[in-house]
This record gives sequence, structure tokens and C-alpha cells, in this order.
Amino acid sequence: MASLFKGEAISGLDIRDVSAADRTPLPPVAAAEDDVDQLQLWNEYHRKYWNSEERIKPTPPALLLADSLSRGQRILELGCGSGRDAVFLQGRGHSVTATDFSEFAIEANISFHEASGVVFSVQDLRTPLTFSDADFDAVYARLCLHYFPDGITREIFREIHRVLRPAGKFLFTCRSTDDHLYGQGDEIGPELFRSGGQIRHFFSQEYTKDVLSGEGLFAIDSLTVRDELIYNSHANVVQCLAVRS
Ligand SMILES: C[S@@+](CC[C@H](N)C(=O)[O-])C[C@H]1O[C@@H](n2cnc3c(N)ncnc32)[C@H](O)[C@@H]1O
Repeated sequence: MASLFKGEAISGLDIRDVSAADRTPLPPVAAAEDDVDQLQLWNEYHRKYWNSEERIKPTPPALLLADSLSRGQRILELGCGSGRDAVFLQGRGHSVTATDFSEFAIEANISFHEASGVVFSVQDLRTPLTFSDADFDAVYARLCLHYFPDGITREIFREIHRVLRPAGKFLFTCRSTDDHLYGQGDEIGPELFRSGGQIRHFFSQEYTKDVLSGEGLFAIDSLTVRDELIYNSHANVVQCLAVRS
């Protein structure tokens, strides 16, 4: 059997002959390859549709959050995309920090919405949130929490709990198991499908209740399943307003 000790010959090759510059880097592991795909996909999407009209108006869940808050709250938005909801909420008298993993989206937001007062920063939801415990009065996440397998989803919900102050509000929407895209493409996990390169995890009402209250993280204030227009196409979403326990 070939030995891998430094300096020993393996199949005629002496490791001492291979300089650092000659070494072929290891290929990325499968998970990392998937990660890059998703980021690349979203950067391209944002670049292509940045100026489209339907990405400018604030959305119904942002209006709902605005109505449920008194002025002057610290809000964290996750997966902010074109920044329309962040800018709207800031305009309603709040201090908004808006994040997304797409560097393109964040850079474009910084230049387009410079005067808004919103603080934009890059945050990949698959990594711990870069904020301190209890930093925010509210967390807002429209259509950005349904891209991950169950384990990562639960980790993200724990992180949201951590950065919210006690009794802070959490409003989010995710594509539901009644959405027309449900079941399309390859099933790669429970309620998890990859189609057109994009991975989506569809939420049922039961699953939503479980991730929120299963570990006693949040109490549910309202939970609805409804139709919503997403970039001019009909979608079915779970929408939930929860309160941090
Ligand atoms: C359907 S768009 C919603 C954008 C925005 N919330 C809205 O309603 O217009 C999903 C957003 O989630 C972001 N996203 C996807 N995966 C992410 C991840 N791992 N971490 C952070 N953001 C992510 C995308 O870049 C995109 O902006």
C-alpha cells in the first residue's frame, strides 16, 4: 500500500519534487458547488431585472409590518433584493438595516438608495447573522427563507430569535406547499425541490408552526396562506407575524 508520509515516493512521484505552485487545488466539495450556483444565479437575476418596474413599489407584507409598528423601530430586513421594502419602512420613520447575499444587489442598493438612510450590507443567511443579541425590534423577511433544507432553516430561525429583542416582531413570507412551483423539478429533500437551477423549500402551515414554536422561539400572532403576485406572476405563500418569546 502506498504511504503518504512526506518525502516518500508514490507511484513513481516524489512529493519533494512538487513545488507549492504546481499543486492542483482540490475541487470544491459538492455543498460548496451548490452554494456558488445559488449566489451566481441571484447575482445574474438582480443584474438582469434591476430596473424592472414591479421591483420598485413596496409589497403588501411591508405595509402590514408598517401598520403593526409604532415609529422609530430598529428593523432588520433579510434578503432585501431591490430594497423597495427597506426604503419604504425607513420612510415610515424606522431605522432599517437591509441585507442580502447578492453583492450585486447590495452595491446597487447602496448607489440607488444612497439618500434613503437605509444601511445595506451583505449577509448570507447560511452563515450566522453578523449582528449582536437583541439588536433589533423587528425582523422582516419576504420570500427569502424558503431556499434552505430543514436543518439550515431551523438554524436561521434561531439566529433571528437571537438578534431580536424579547417581544420583538418577526414578519415573513415563504412559498407554500400549495404554490404552483411545488413538486416541479428534482426532489432533493423533504419539501425541497431544485428546478431551473433554483432550490426551494416549500412551507406548509404545520411546518411554519413547528419551526417557530417547536423550540419555543416565537409565539404566532397571525398565520395565513394566500395568493400573492411575485414579479407579476401568481404565487401562494404562507405569511406569518410572530412575536419573539
Ligand atoms: C424572491 S427574492 C425577494 C426579494 C425581496 N425580499 C422582495 O420581496 O422583493 C429572494 C431574495 O433572497 C436573496 N437570497 C437568496 N438566497 C439567499 C441567502 N442564502 N442569503 C441571503 N439572501 C439570499 C436573493 O438574492 C433575493 O434578493
